[in-house]
Amino acid sequence: MSRVVPIAVVGSGYVGLVAAICFAEMGHQVFCVDNDERKVAALQGGDTLIHENYLPTLLGKYRNTRVKFTTDLAEATRECDAIFIAVGTPQSDTGDADLSYVEAVASEIARHITSYKVIVEKSTVPVYTNEWIRRVIERNGVNRDLFDVVSNPEFLREGTAVADFLHPDRIVVGADSERAAALLTAIYAPLTEGDYYKKAEAIAGVCSDRARPPLLLTSTKSAEIIKHASNAFLALKISFINAVSNLCEAADANVEQVAKGIGLDSRIGPKFLRPGIGYGGSCFPKDVAAFRSVAEQMGVDFNLLSEVEKINVGQKKRFLSKVRAALWTLRGKKLAVLGLAFKGETDDIRESPAIDLVEMLLAEGCSIVAYDPAAMKRAAEELPPSTQLRYVDSVEEATKDADALLILTDWAEFAELDLVKLHGSLRYPIVVDGRNLYDPKVMQEHGFTYMSVGRPAATPVREAVTPDVLV
Ligand code: UDX
Ligand code: UDX
Repeated sequence: MSRVVPIAVVGSGYVGLVAAICFAEMGHQVFCVDNDERKVAALQGGDTLIHENYLPTLLGKYRNTRVKFTTDLAEATRECDAIFIAVGTPQSDTGDADLSYVEAVASEIARHITSYKVIVEKSTVPVYTNEWIRRVIERNGVNRDLFDVVSNPEFLREGTAVADFLHPDRIVVGADSERAAALLTAIYAPLTEGDYYKKAEAIAGVCSDRARPPLLLTSTKSAEIIKHASNAFLALKISFINAVSNLCEAADANVEQVAKGIGLDSRIGPKFLRPGIGYGGSCFPKDVAAFRSVAEQMGVDFNLLSEVEKINVGQKKRFLSKVRAALWTLRGKKLAVLGLAFKGETDDIRESPAIDLVEMLLAEGCSIVAYDPAAMKRAAEELPPSTQLRYVDSVEEATKDADALLILTDWAEFAELDLVKLHGSLRYPIVVDGRNLYDPKVMQEHGFTYMSVGRPAATPVREAVTPDVLV
């Protein structure tokens, strides 16, 4: 039978909040701490603040009962056995992760340790952070026997974070002491021993009582590297397929067929081989840069990662060239933009390639009418106000009388547009799709000029001139 562990999670952002709520769902008693009072008040009142599947229901179920939202890190430290640090680790000017929030939280925790605690790094951090946290806590006068520092990286994708947390491919615990490893093992026991999946109301997913997730015990340093290496490898996979998509365009081949052919090899696998306008989000760009920087500092040449970044930047420029190839001059063109989030099913616009493209298109003199199901509020806070940029509440309003439609985010609803209506709504039936949401043949049959990524452009039969996608 799993035991209830009192857990503190510091930081209630995309990672911390999901972790806190999921620990409660697993049966633990949780303090979710944040130094932003407004955030804490909103969470206490039942506002999730982020768009994340299952979160509203679970927050309703556990807020102010199994999960206590608070700004009081001192109380949380005293009351809990394990303290997870999930504050942000933004990219600094040099490309390194800025660890000042992690350090501040570690010093604050140290001031309140009176009995044995396990401090857990949940935020993505470079190798050796663990050692620094330990040093900071010791410098604040805490005896070495009173704490351990563990690395327990997260592998959550935004939009499916709750299901990812409760149905992980693996749980990685980097611990250098048996006592700390035992506590983390107890925390995850509801998943690894399968009790959680037996509950009638358990969130559905790939794991079950018969297919339980493995817990991999490693050294702290290995765990830190596992996190960075995983994200860097996934980013590499995306850049690889994007480079292949460029080759497909040059050779008049179809990257979807190529990706399928590659992905059927079980050694490669089909996932993360979707070409597009480049990866974005709060993790991949920052983690690739940080991993490269860590390697450099340790005297290891990891130029492969610079190439991954270069391809990613190039992908946005190529998309802009396609828009130009479809429309000739850009100044004064009215464009419908579908999607601002860095990917579908999230309201997050951090490092979103869609936002970068909107900025590039505005700089070219286009006017833009944008629609995103969840990210418009955040986009309006990020993008400078412009008379050339309007946000609307539906696909219909965005596409009305536009010179072309650009699809920038892979929201499920953008893959199900009424093509007959869309054709009637646009001024010119031109669609430039950065996410390959449509079959070029179907678009052609509906009378569109359709350009996508790594596939031959489709033009309506009656159009004489084939746009050159390889400008
Ligand atoms: C996370 C991870 O922590 C990061 O390492 C990973 O690579 C990306 O995701 P995320 O949850 O997205 O960060 O960050 P954010 O949404 O910025 O939330 C961080 C929270 O920590 C905020 O609510 C902030 O108010 C809080 N915080 C920050 C503190 O409580 N104390 C601090 O000292 C700093
Ligand atoms: C990622 C990791 O997947 C997760 O394990 C880690 O903990 C945090 O970072 P997330 O940033 O939420 O998660 O999004 P993800 O679904 O991985 O997508 C990242 C970016 O890559 C998005 O911009 C997405 O559109 C892009 N992408 C993804 C592609 O362009 N092609 C693909 O095949 C997959």
